[in-house]
Amino acid sequence: MNLFHEANRRGWDAVSPHWQAGIEAQGHWRRCHREPELALLPEERRYLGDVAGRDVAVLGSGDNLVAFALAGLGARVTSVDLSAMQLQIAAERARALGLSIRFVHADVTALGALATATFDVVYTGGHVAVWVSDLKRYYAEAGRILRPAGLLLVNEYHPFRRIWKQGVHRLERELSYYDRGPHQYDRADQAPGLAPGTLPSYNFHWTVSDYVTALLQAGCELLALEEIGEARQSWEEAPLEGLPECLLLVGRKRGATAPGEAG
Ligand SMILES: C[S@@+](CC[C@H](N)C(=O)[O-])C[C@H]1O[C@@H](n2cnc3c(N)ncnc32)[C@H](O)[C@@H]1O
Repeated sequence: MNLFHEANRRGWDAVSPHWQAGIEAQGHWRRCHREPELALLPEERRYLGDVAGRDVAVLGSGDNLVAFALAGLGARVTSVDLSAMQLQIAAERARALGLSIRFVHADVTALGALATATFDVVYTGGHVAVWVSDLKRYYAEAGRILRPAGLLLVNEYHPFRRIWKQGVHRLERELSYYDRGPHQYDRADQAPGLAPGTLPSYNFHWTVSDYVTALLQAGCELLALEEIGEARQSWEEAPLEGLPECLLLVGRKRGATAPGEAG
């Protein structure tokens, strides 16, 4: 058992109802199956292409907005998360929307519940890698479940944004870019009624080269790497405008000629 992940699972289960109340208030989950642009960037749509009828896994599915958007676009979606509470709330919402999604309770570094070479697309990101202590194993599992020539699409919060002091007016570095962690913190203040110190959780700060290396070692070739956006989000407590928001990686599983490339 991975003790970091076990602690993180407890943390997500405990804060999930409160965290999901924010998702409820925002309301996008009710619309994103019809308006996929609420969950997917134009760049992601371009790399994904037509997903109708394709088998897609969303790893670390969280609010499941991406899973709902992909299901609305006609994909057969499998949604994987470490937190049973997150999955339960997502499954209730999927039922309310009439979406048929398979929900799988699993750690992204141990996807034994999913058979090898059974997905056309694996989508992951939006603050998932930060919870995972072994990035190579995580992407190796993603690569394993992909069919040859399948797409691995990673869209993560950009690593350049993770190293700054919060609550200051000028950028002041708190951590080395290379300090991958584990960074321990307490999540007890993220839900009402939890006693301080009761939810130790662990974050990991991967570098750009860590992401690229893990994707290549997962048996994928790198089709694209993009850095997208430069705005400051409402929840960010440091003046991060001007730094890239997202790191987008597109990999293709080696082992077969991609459609359109024959000859
Ligand atoms: C911030 S959400 C990110 C997903 C989505 N982008 C979102 O914003 O909701 C993080 C999710 O990753 C899940 N998670 C964390 N560690 C995981 C692991 N080792 N395996 C699977 N899921 C994990 C958490 O339970 C949580 O639902």
